[in-house]
Amino acid sequence: MPGSIIQWFPGHMAATRRLIRENLGSVDIVFELLDARIPESSRNPEIKSLLGDKKTVIILNKADLADPEKTKLWETHFRQNENTVPVPVDCKSGKGTREIMDAARHLLREKLQREREKGMKKPIRAMVVGIPNVGKSTLINRFAGAKKAQAENRPGVTKTKQWVKASAELELLDMPGVLWPKFEDVVTGENLAMTGAIKDAILQSEEIACLLCARLQALYPLSLKERYKLSDEQLQEEPYELFLSIGRKRGFLQGGGVVNEERCSAVLLDEFRSGTLGRMTLEVPK
Ligand code: G4P
Repeated sequence: MPGSIIQWFPGHMAATRRLIRENLGSVDIVFELLDARIPESSRNPEIKSLLGDKKTVIILNKADLADPEKTKLWETHFRQNENTVPVPVDCKSGKGTREIMDAARHLLREKLQREREKGMKKPIRAMVVGIPNVGKSTLINRFAGAKKAQAENRPGVTKTKQWVKASAELELLDMPGVLWPKFEDVVTGENLAMTGAIKDAILQSEEIACLLCARLQALYPLSLKERYKLSDEQLQEEPYELFLSIGRKRGFLQGGGVVNEERCSAVLLDEFRSGTLGRMTLEVPK
């Protein structure tokens, strides 16, 4: 199923790659946004080679929705590279945004020192990259203090790049969403679908909800149990049966006591994506 979304928009992807390459020379640093719930799956596999040894702040965004213990594991993982500094951030509340600037100043300390010695005070120029829906506009609005970046959530829609003057110290280059040219790993597609990076219109939401049931059964069974008042037996059911049990428990029934699967999947996915089910992370560093 998620295999069918592998070849989206190759033209947009090539344009994004070209834009990044062309503009890398005019920025000091990259702000790469990842979804803290799926840091690996939300990372474009080509980005590493595209960025080379460019200093990069890895923004683990939506950290408010992610499992704090697993976020720590990801921080350790991304600290292994001397050119990257990870920062868990909740762009919605602004928590962690100050630390992004601390990380940028740290990574650019030699350059900033040289400029200070020459009596220069230039703003840090940062390129903002990340997949659609990861929170780029929200981050830019946070820094710029106003609705400077237009939210555009439809995957595959290419915006043009734009410079945003965030403050005297920071200028941001907003880049169009980076999409996957190809991802062979089915789990990556599933993770993106479950967290909502890929819109439900592309995939059947009932299928995604069942995938989510299977994953949460393995990773966060107690949260499922508590939220939907499930018995231990129900928690052991096959994912589709478990999904139906959740529907029955929540009373999402239509004629003849049949579970309304559409409503059940909409609620389940919404409760996961909004953090109502708890703070959850779907993958850990390999
Ligand atoms: P993009 O530019 O990268 O495409 O993403 P955008 O900023 O539009 O954000 C996509 C969605 O993610 C938005 O929700 C936004 O509010 C939410 N978001 C961004 N950062 C965070 C974060 O750190 N934590 C949480 N919990 N959510 C975040 P939306 O449903 O599209 O809009 P709305 O609910 O804000 O109205």
